[in-house]
Amino acid sequence: MIRLMQQTDLNAVSEIENIVQSHPWTKQQFQESILSYQSTVLEAQGQVVGFCILQPVLDEANLLLMAIHPSQQGKGFGFKLLDQSIQLLKNKPVQIFLEVRESNTAAIALYEKSDFHQIDLRKNYYPNKNGTREHAIIMVKTCSDDFATLFK
Ligand SMILES: CC(C)(COP(=O)(O)OP(=O)(O)OC[C@H]1O[C@@H](n2cnc3c(N)ncnc32)[C@H](O)[C@@H]1OP(=O)(O)O)[C@@H](O)C(=O)NCCC(=O)NCCS
Repeated sequence: MIRLMQQTDLNAVSEIENIVQSHPWTKQQFQESILSYQSTVLEAQGQVVGFCILQPVLDEANLLLMAIHPSQQGKGFGFKLLDQSIQLLKNKPVQIFLEVRESNTAAIALYEKSDFHQIDLRKNYYPNKNGTREHAIIMVKTCSDDFATLFK
């Protein structure tokens, strides 16, 4: 089940984030995301096992963050969560943008399966723990059928 994130989800969401990210969002950031963005969670057997934060901006949206608990990855939850979270956006965006670490092959594969494609590369964008930096891949998904047909 996919639903909007609530205050009572913050511990579970933060726990997942701390496991999967080298530079995790704080609980405070997740709390603010409930008010400012569209934050959703995926529940499986009554447990929050993933979350997705989309930032609507005019007729576009940015995918800021998403994750599935490692014990629940590879079961199709990430794909379902992203797809349904996009459908839940109140104003249907024309395009959705995201940036992802170049080494994050699982996320890039998920995004490609969800019809995102690379449009840019931001060099040395992300800090690594060891002091080096990593490129960001910028991806976009075009949602509007009307827009897509214009360029056919
Ligand atoms: C990226 C992430 C959300 C994927 O979630 P998931 O539930 O495991 O993904 P799904 O099971 O829905 O897989 C959907 C598609 O993603 C791709 N994919 C998922 N895991 C993959 C992996 N380890 N290697 C390669 N491709 C993978 C596949 O194309 C898959 O489709 P398929 O099963 O038809 O081959 C999850 O790995 C995760 O939480 N990672 C840590 C946090 C993160 O990197 N978030 C994204 C950046 S903010």
